[in-house]
Amino acid sequence: MSWNSLWFSLVVLYLSSAVCSAKEEWWQHGVFYQVYPRSFRDVNNDGNGDLAGVIEKLPHFKDAGVDGVWLSPIMKSPQIDAGYDISDYYTIEDMYGSVEDLKELIRKAHEIGIKIILDFVPNHTSNLHKWFQESEDNNEDYKDYYVWADAKGDGSPPNNWISVFRGSAWEWSDKRQQYYLHHFVKEQPDLNYRNPKVREDMKKVLVHYLDLGVDGFRIDAIPYLVEDKELRDEPRSFNPSATPMDNDYLEHIYTNNQPETYDLIYEWRKLVDDYTAQNGGDARILMTEAYADLDHTMPYYGTADGSTKGAHFTFNFFFISNFNKNISTAHDIARIVYTWQNALPSIYTSNWVLGNHDNRRIPTRLGVENIDGFNMLVQLLPGIAVTYNGEEFGQEDGEVTYEQGKDPSARNRSIFESASRDFERTPLQWNDSVNAGFNAGAEPWLPVSEKYKELNLAYQLDENVLSHFQIYRKLTRKRKEDATKSGTTDIWAISDDVIVLKRSYINQHTVLAFKLGWHGNTEEETVYVPSIKAKEATVALTNVGSSYEIGSVINPQSFKLKPHESLVLDIVC
Ligand code: NOJ
Repeated sequence: MSWNSLWFSLVVLYLSSAVCSAKEEWWQHGVFYQVYPRSFRDVNNDGNGDLAGVIEKLPHFKDAGVDGVWLSPIMKSPQIDAGYDISDYYTIEDMYGSVEDLKELIRKAHEIGIKIILDFVPNHTSNLHKWFQESEDNNEDYKDYYVWADAKGDGSPPNNWISVFRGSAWEWSDKRQQYYLHHFVKEQPDLNYRNPKVREDMKKVLVHYLDLGVDGFRIDAIPYLVEDKELRDEPRSFNPSATPMDNDYLEHIYTNNQPETYDLIYEWRKLVDDYTAQNGGDARILMTEAYADLDHTMPYYGTADGSTKGAHFTFNFFFISNFNKNISTAHDIARIVYTWQNALPSIYTSNWVLGNHDNRRIPTRLGVENIDGFNMLVQLLPGIAVTYNGEEFGQEDGEVTYEQGKDPSARNRSIFESASRDFERTPLQWNDSVNAGFNAGAEPWLPVSEKYKELNLAYQLDENVLSHFQIYRKLTRKRKEDATKSGTTDIWAISDDVIVLKRSYINQHTVLAFKLGWHGNTEEETVYVPSIKAKEATVALTNVGSSYEIGSVINPQSFKLKPHESLVLDIVC
């Protein structure tokens, strides 16, 4: 994963990209905040977060400088995969509240200028959805709603496809005497997008929520929407660490990112654009979830010339996939930034993501002491910044035992530690009262982390004390100040362990200098800001625990950084 450092000591990493123009739409420089509703705030004290809890915390979003809140799924679901298994698209899951609560959330959020984005799960339903039950009964109207196929002569599944959650992607139905496809658990049967009725039904779902006033959708698991018509076997990937049970044992040339899948995203984009054109108001947006290589990721934005548009942005997962403190260096950060920027057609908007409900939290992956440095990086890069709830105050992964775990992708004890997504989903740590202020004492669906007594938002609210949250607030405010300025962005790995990001506007630079402290780098290092003539820089912001004073003046051509130290510098030129 790491690039050859010798090569990089000779070649300076350089990126130059035009940033925002004055005519940006609301989402183009936004901070998007992911709420994981079940773990967010439980007002009715039943152990599960609820919409009333999200409404209660609206002032927190405002204070944090958030522009759009994305809620993980809140539609009716048996919760086998934490709501990503919907049994009725038109009903709000009981434990979260009612459609009236959703309307109240949208109204109150809009009153304070915050947009509400819902998670839309189109690839699969719950096996309890009435469409699936009708389909399994072979009812004429629904028999082609899902991907069904006959067994092979020996009774085995139709082909070798493997589920993302391990094992065959096919499940036998005694009732229908056929196999059905499921890319995730068997309780998540895959919809058949070759059926025009399915396409129409899913569009109706989108319009239903647009009519309720939502500002857009995060679209789940898009690479899997359409599969090869002939159901051909996928070839081996020859990934040395994959067993025949693992999804990456195969090269997904027939199940992922098929041409028809992109067309669906383009259709949905047209739908939301037409809706905005007909109903007025700000753009309703689409953000898509695809873990794919760059070549397969970019077309989710649309065609390179912009003549056909897709998602307003498709998540940039490259700071998540294969990037962590054990294998990566500062060169990888620079490479991720510039390869993404170079691949992204200039008409589209960048975005930067460090966490979500499917991946270990930043402190686990990138180092507890690096939370401020990485928040600085994401907030200062051009385009959209995405925050997973808790990142704004440095929440760490929780402690969950196999017995307490709920994640269906880790039902097997031997893979629990490595595969479970329960650790990043434990309740939010609001304060040091019972259950960290998540609720009034009922047993939460996942345990509250033991760290909450010291690590909680309430301890970080004092504006006069530098804390992870105060740093985050200052960063989001700085973004807003800079949003209408145009300029360029440069990034360098000036050593294996130090990254320097420079935003240049007329007469001014904003610089991040960040020493990762990875791979046993415990020494202080003398660093510099490349391509700078000024001899003075003002320290605008530091990480918690830095030896630099905010407001002090340093020489940007030579200064020292300790491991994990990160500085935001203002330089007048
Ligand atoms: C992606 C979601 O983020 C994840 O949590 C879920 O398990 C799968 N899609 C299946 O819906």
